Amino acid sequence: MSNRLKVTPNDLSAFWMPFTANRQFKQAPRMMVSAKDMHYTTSDGRKVLDGTAGLWCVNAGHCRPKITEAIQSQAAELDYAPAFQMGHPIVFELANRLVDLAPEGMDHVFFTNSGSESVETALKMAIAYHRAKGEGSRTRLIGRERGYHGVNFGGISVGGIVTNRKMFGTLLGGVDHMPHTHLPEKNSFTKGVPEHGAELANELERIVALHDASTIAAVIVEPVAGSTGVILPPKGYLERLREICTKHGILLIFDEVITGFGRLGTPFAADYFGVTPDIMTTAKGVSNGVIPMGAVFVKKEIHDAFMTGPEHMIEFFHGYTYSGNPIACAAALGTLDTYKEEGLLTRGEELAPYWEDALHSLKGEPNVIDIRNIGLIGAIELAPIPGSPTKRAFSAFVKAFERGALIRTTGDIIALSPPLIITKGQINELIDHVREVLRAVD
Ligand SMILES: Cc1ncc(COP(=O)(O)O)c(C=O)c1O
Repeated sequence: MSNRLKVTPNDLSAFWMPFTANRQFKQAPRMMVSAKDMHYTTSDGRKVLDGTAGLWCVNAGHCRPKITEAIQSQAAELDYAPAFQMGHPIVFELANRLVDLAPEGMDHVFFTNSGSESVETALKMAIAYHRAKGEGSRTRLIGRERGYHGVNFGGISVGGIVTNRKMFGTLLGGVDHMPHTHLPEKNSFTKGVPEHGAELANELERIVALHDASTIAAVIVEPVAGSTGVILPPKGYLERLREICTKHGILLIFDEVITGFGRLGTPFAADYFGVTPDIMTTAKGVSNGVIPMGAVFVKKEIHDAFMTGPEHMIEFFHGYTYSGNPIACAAALGTLDTYKEEGLLTRGEELAPYWEDALHSLKGEPNVIDIRNIGLIGAIELAPIPGSPTKRAFSAFVKAFERGALIRTTGDIIALSPPLIITKGQINELIDHVREVLRAVD
């Protein structure tokens, strides 16, 4: 490690940190200086167990040799090639490898650099697809309350998190929202997928009746919502959404930015639930979070609808300078190799029962009002401090970090999503940290 990286900066003001309580952080910085496998090392030399795979992205764990080597050798060989009207071999190799992993029928991949860009790409693709097929009136987009689809204008418009929307004006027009599926009064402390709430999918029929199907391009949902505090689809809910979309010619987009690449114990949530969307957005785990990358998977019919007109013409006027960047592709190939060699895309299935029991052992700890889990995802919902929402969970986050565990909080919910290499012993350790923290915070 270089000395420069070891130094804790003494002036933190220039960097305006994303999604961070900047003033609190800068008074008491939490600095990571290195990482290996399941642990970070902090600037004061402490080891911190990663309970969140970074930000739901480091699925194979940290500084994995195959990924590091792939990046190093790619950087020395072909650093960049123009993404438009030019190619380089490994972007095609990566696309083929990804399509082989994807649910049946998702035969094409469009590369982006983040989950937010994958979402924008999918929404634009959906509208343009209908237009290419002669149904240009299908422009409406339907999202869901409490959905998170990144931070760009399309994503916050279909998203349903008030704090992410209210500061930013009128957003995209022609967007409607289905209700969320968080029903604590009926489903609290459910292990796995909850029983109640499938009928909430029928709200889509109401929205279709209101606007008419001929105006609706797509419905976008996270199969399991993560960022908004882990909200699970009730049994039968996603199946019903699929049926309604198919019946009305509406494209179904699954935002698999966090569920993709093994988080539920299957390669994608689409595999877990046995429901195939028309478009699937991914990012994060595609490159183990190491180099920014996103990938949008599409069904053949959608891709093929664009492949018309004169052959010298660009078919889809969309793309990013760094779409399929060679070093990101190398990182992704190293990631897929690591997943394959270690069986990580299905390891969650084998660990899920242990994870579930460990998480639910927190029932009865102070202020715990719900616990939810699926695959290697867990959420512990806390009763808010009256008049100070989010404070209790934030204190838990800070205390956990001081004790040696990285957890994530959203509102008053603690969300856990460890790297898929976690051992049973480390699951116990993580849950023990959370238990002690819950006992210690006000
Ligand atoms: C479901 C979902 N979509 C989109 C995003 C945005 O991804 P990014 O931060 O890479 O833009 C996230 C990030 O957490 C996400 O969870």
